Amino acid sequence: MSITILGIESSCDDTSAAVIRDEVMLSNVIASQAVHEAYGGVVPELASRAHQQNIIPVVSEALKRAGVTPEDLSAVAFTRGPGLMGSLLVGTSFAKGFTTALNIPLVDVNHLQAHVMAHFIKRSPDDNTQPPFPFLCLLVSGGNSQIIKVESYNEMTVIGQTIDDAAGEAFDKCAKVVGLPYPGGPVVDRLAKEGNPKAFALSKPHIPGFDYSFSGLKTSFLYLLRDKIKEDPDFIEKNKCDLCASLQTTIVDILMDKLYKAVKQTGIKHVAVAGGVSANSAVRTAFEDYARKYGWTVYLPPFSFTTDNAAMVAITGYYKYLDKEFCDIAKAPFARVEL
Ligand code: KG4
Repeated sequence: MSITILGIESSCDDTSAAVIRDEVMLSNVIASQAVHEAYGGVVPELASRAHQQNIIPVVSEALKRAGVTPEDLSAVAFTRGPGLMGSLLVGTSFAKGFTTALNIPLVDVNHLQAHVMAHFIKRSPDDNTQPPFPFLCLLVSGGNSQIIKVESYNEMTVIGQTIDDAAGEAFDKCAKVVGLPYPGGPVVDRLAKEGNPKAFALSKPHIPGFDYSFSGLKTSFLYLLRDKIKEDPDFIEKNKCDLCASLQTTIVDILMDKLYKAVKQTGIKHVAVAGGVSANSAVRTAFEDYARKYGWTVYLPPFSFTTDNAAMVAITGYYKYLDKEFCDIAKAPFARVEL
């Protein structure tokens, strides 16, 4: 019998609902929240309110596009954390209410695991692009930078992670100081195409193991601007593209250096990337270069699965459903957690 899962994602500033039937995505609806643009970052209270307004229309649209009714659902999977507490509460409460009304199981999903699991969403029944186990996954988003050893759908070990800022945060915060709108990552990516990646040398961390650090880079970027602006007040305006290209290339070098070490040490050459920063063109090019140079087999998610989406929640929920790993209705969302 077919298993049909409704996924709900509300951990940050995207309200999303998706339907998956037996690994195949039937719909994936995302309502982004433009309200935060004016503030240069996500405002938690505004995010919660926008989720409240969006959740019912987004779920209705996801069911409609999938051609299913609530009665067709086997279970509802929702992001329980990590994320913004107020935002998580909206998706969690909706999922609890909906499953109670339909008398079907509730499945809680870890947002980080879901980003990795995005690689298992099939866009058609004959889509066979999923990575084999074990593989390494570089998870790079606004809140995380981790290297994860993935041994099965539910066995994932973080072997390296940031000790301070995430890669996405480095993109966004540096973009902010050069006056770019939020989120800065995609804008830096665009401007970097016109710039020289070797124009400015920025600091790279020296920390042991597979861990990352991006706070030193952020500081060195700030100091560079401070010193150069003293010489020429129009420095940023005149060098925006070179600044973006230098920043982007440094972030990508930092990410790839540690990933290369992890591949060498583990001997695992199937390497995937996930999370918002995996949309970055230089990250994607670096993965393809490393594949050619070092014989890696790489897995780049489609752009629609790089940022927060409910299809990744639904596929994670699908495998938990198969294992009968259901969520007690009394469980609360959590803001912080490791994988
Ligand atoms: O995974 P995600 O949507 O949200 C979190 O769960 O954090 O990631 C958002 C992050 C932001 O920092 C955004 O600037 C970054 O992903 N991002 C990019 C690009 N597209 C999104 N960073 C660099 N280049 C991009 N093209």
